[in-house]
Amino acid sequence: MSIAQPPLILWQFTDTHLAADPAATLMGVNTLDSLRRVVAAACVDAPRPRAVIATGDLIHDDSAAAYRLLAATLAPLAAPVLCLPGNHDDAALMRELLGAGAVRYAEHWLAGRWQVILLNSAQPGQAAGRLPAAELARLQACLARYPEHFALLCVHHPPLAIGSPWMDAMGLVNGAELLELAAARPRVRGIVWGHIHQEYEAEWRGLRLFGTPSTCVQFTPGAERCTLDPRPPAYRWLQLHGDGRIDSGVRRVAL
Ligand SMILES: [Fe+2]
Repeated sequence: MSIAQPPLILWQFTDTHLAADPAATLMGVNTLDSLRRVVAAACVDAPRPRAVIATGDLIHDDSAAAYRLLAATLAPLAAPVLCLPGNHDDAALMRELLGAGAVRYAEHWLAGRWQVILLNSAQPGQAAGRLPAAELARLQACLARYPEHFALLCVHHPPLAIGSPWMDAMGLVNGAELLELAAARPRVRGIVWGHIHQEYEAEWRGLRLFGTPSTCVQFTPGAERCTLDPRPPAYRWLQLHGDGRIDSGVRRVAL
């Protein structure tokens, strides 16, 4: 008789937009205060995660001090925090500063029957994202190396239009290529992203697709142009099951 393994729990924190100045705001919201509240709420949530994914736009001012503040603020989560860059990040600075600690730049993570592949879609100086050929090749190499593992892909930019024209103008320009590649490999079960500052969920050719609200400012779904949404900040929880299923939801944290 086989005993079912408990699911692998991951959390996703995204678009924290910290700055060196702890008083810095983004569209009227103090991003550090907001992140601290989300972290404090998450710290008493259960079940606890094996790892946290931080999907970019982690800082907003290109400063080393902001990355140090990020690492200190996320440390209470008491789990590895796997970071990938967004359009507001400095990927080289991230790699240098988030090198070896619990909060670290990461490209790959393996646990149980799953692999998590973190992709860099940031293009210097541009809001829109693109996965370079080398990143797509690395993705395929990870999938080939662990053919029996289910895969969750993580990237900053959304790989498809979410129905908000101003946001869709700065998505992942080769998102269709990523979706085709992923959907053609049955072991790839889902893609999670940040960037859109709103909740999004869809299924495409068997792939689960998840966009996640920011830990600070939210944008209104379906809006023609940038419109603030008063909904509170959030993080996403994911349960990765041993049979390849994914359960997920968003936990809002009232400020
Ligand atoms: Fe972004």
